[in-house]
Amino acid sequence: MKNKFIKNICCIGAGYVGGPTMSVIAFNCPELRVDVVDINKERIEAWNSEDFSKLPIFEPGLEDIIKKCRGVNLFFSNNVEESISKADIIFISVNTPTKKKGIGAGFASDLKWVESSARQIAKFARNHTVVVEKSTLPVKTAETIKSILNSSEQNEGINKMNIQNNQKSFSIVSNPEFLAEGTAINDLQKPDRVLIGGEDHYSIDLISDIYQNWVDKEKIITTNLWSSELSKLVSNAFLAQRISSINSISAICEATGANINEVAKAIGTDTRIGSKFLQPGPGFGGSCFKKDILNLVYLCKFYGLNEVADYWEQVVDINQWQQNRISSLVIRNLFGTLSNKKLAVYGFSFKANTNDTRESPSINVSINLLQEGAKLSFYDPKVSEKQILSEFENNINEKNVLVNNTALKAAEGADAIIVLTEWEEFNHLDWEDIFKIMRKPAWVFDTRVFLDKQYLKNIGFKVWSLGT
Ligand code: UDX
Ligand code: UDX
Repeated sequence: MKNKFIKNICCIGAGYVGGPTMSVIAFNCPELRVDVVDINKERIEAWNSEDFSKLPIFEPGLEDIIKKCRGVNLFFSNNVEESISKADIIFISVNTPTKKKGIGAGFASDLKWVESSARQIAKFARNHTVVVEKSTLPVKTAETIKSILNSSEQNEGINKMNIQNNQKSFSIVSNPEFLAEGTAINDLQKPDRVLIGGEDHYSIDLISDIYQNWVDKEKIITTNLWSSELSKLVSNAFLAQRISSINSISAICEATGANINEVAKAIGTDTRIGSKFLQPGPGFGGSCFKKDILNLVYLCKFYGLNEVADYWEQVVDINQWQQNRISSLVIRNLFGTLSNKKLAVYGFSFKANTNDTRESPSINVSINLLQEGAKLSFYDPKVSEKQILSEFENNINEKNVLVNNTALKAAEGADAIIVLTEWEEFNHLDWEDIFKIMRKPAWVFDTRVFLDKQYLKNIGFKVWSLGT
């Protein structure tokens, strides 16, 4: 660290973002002490578990870092107040779900956790503290945080005088996270860029110094606060837009006899378009894309930009449409009814290599199928039975939900297998054995277009593959 005065970092929120991000900071900055705090006792216990398979988050590479750093310069605890009081820099990584009621319901983010974190910081922080927005937030949230922090004590803003005089003062920095789940550690270790938005150079440089321990200076982009907050929403909106675009084309491919993988390859080799994020599927899930686009839509409407709002909302609408379209197709192919039929669902996480199920397309598709009277038999390599069942708690058909610990068991007596997550192991299953124990005709619906269609057909399966 260039700045020798910085010793303690605190992160509020030991979730999918806070946990891995702080682990990587601790790993790369051995001279810093990193305290990750959370109000959730169970989650902290899991982070401190001696049995590494019990860590609350599954991310390739995370376990190794935890083994090296935990108890050395990385600490997980519920000591929120004490850690805030010791910290020079505080990251806010709490969740910001879409509001369920009140003004902006269904679109705006619920900032109650961010607000309560800011209030705790205002109360317990000492000296000068840099508060970093890590959570994805609506544009101008820094304003809210600032006014909470500034109303706590006389805070004259950041200047050398009050740092030297040990007065309580704050500055706010936006440092959005671009990690994707499943590749979080790699994304953090080798980011495409690090974005730091702020109002004073001292704080921006401080955060930049931390990253420069392992990231090239050229990759660190500095902006004003609002550009940084907006860039995070726009990044996610652009990525999600590509998925809705390719998914809309998957339907045209099915109608015309074109093949979506061939089309994706043909357009993706144009360097102006690029090949990434053109994988067709059952629609995007995860905690960010939908929430962030809806946030953008809300922001546009707030500023009277209704055409812009409609444009972006369409990305979410197509996503929902794709999931409904897949459900209808399954029903149609199974002779128009699912009553008394057992369907195996392979994959419940929102994508491979994560145990996260937030906004997973599997949830919507499954609910559609349950509503048609199907009995669903699930298998996911990383998602627990408890987690799967919790998604159907309020569904009248929850008794029709079974969870299995092998793919084979899930397929027993089933009429169809619907593959909703692209777990690599699905390509290496003994499909011949699976075929034998299913009711005939036995269907495979490959919504991720990644299984060997011809191989499955040769075994005797009827196969539907998205966009082909
Ligand atoms: C992140 C971002 O922060 C969010 O804005 C983004 O849109 C999605 O990703 P994530 O880390 O995935 O959130 O959320 P989650 O795994 O739910 O973790 C948040 C943690 O904050 C939880 O463990 C929760 O207990 C904790 N929390 C919440 C606090 O410690 N204090 C609070 O006041 C509220
Ligand atoms: C995303 C962003 O990628 C990341 O930068 C941001 O910080 C958080 O949101 P994440 O949601 O973890 O990350 O995963 P991502 O790999 O982006 O996938 C999101 C969803 O899109 C998944 O459901 C995935 O299956 C789907 N997807 C992704 C596709 O359907 N096709 C693709 O080509 C890529």
